[in-house]
Amino acid sequence: RLAQRAGLSVGRLRLGVVTTAKYLVPGLLGPFCQAHPQVEVEFQVGNRAEIRRRLQDNLDDLYVFSHPPRELDIELTLLTENPLVVIAPREHPLASRRRIPWKALAGERWLMREPGSGTRHAIERFCETQGLSLDKSITIASNEAIKESVAAGLGLAILSRLALTHMAPGNLVELPVEGFPIANSWYLVVPRGKQLSPIAAAFKQHMLSQLGPQV
Ligand code: PGA
Repeated sequence: RLAQRAGLSVGRLRLGVVTTAKYLVPGLLGPFCQAHPQVEVEFQVGNRAEIRRRLQDNLDDLYVFSHPPRELDIELTLLTENPLVVIAPREHPLASRRRIPWKALAGERWLMREPGSGTRHAIERFCETQGLSLDKSITIASNEAIKESVAAGLGLAILSRLALTHMAPGNLVELPVEGFPIANSWYLVVPRGKQLSPIAAAFKQHMLSQLGPQV
């Protein structure tokens, strides 16, 4: 199915990425597809548990996770940072503060992603290690719905900083809460030993070259 023409690959590129990576990957995919117009892209977006299942079933060429399933036999490469930040509507009483202690947020309602979400997993781990608790929470299974709900005053949320700048209602701000952001990163993941198609290898190379030096 795969042909080479003047060094350019023709074929299908199948990507499986967690929901926060949908703010990262299209910006890399655009120029790549312009340079390789013959490539057909299949771009699957899901939460960590869904993309983990796709990885286990070997459905895609390349995967992007924040919390790679290290219990599986995988190779991972650090792509870039994905800090998680506290977001609030601009008119929130704390929005003008320069530094906000965690205890000032007592009594807030938190809008949390669903079980199976890597974002939720990262927040729970952070709260556990810091001895913090999110007393009142509501589960909303979409970053976009969470942003709209925060903007509408339903509560606060902890989300990828990139989610704040992409497709976000205009009145959201990041709150400078002590101890934040939660450090987090995106990783490119492939099953260990998997032979990548030429186009998948080329896109992997493109991602690594665009996202800077790797550790
Ligand atoms: P998710 O994606 O919250 O949609 O699972 C981000 C991640 O895995 O960190």
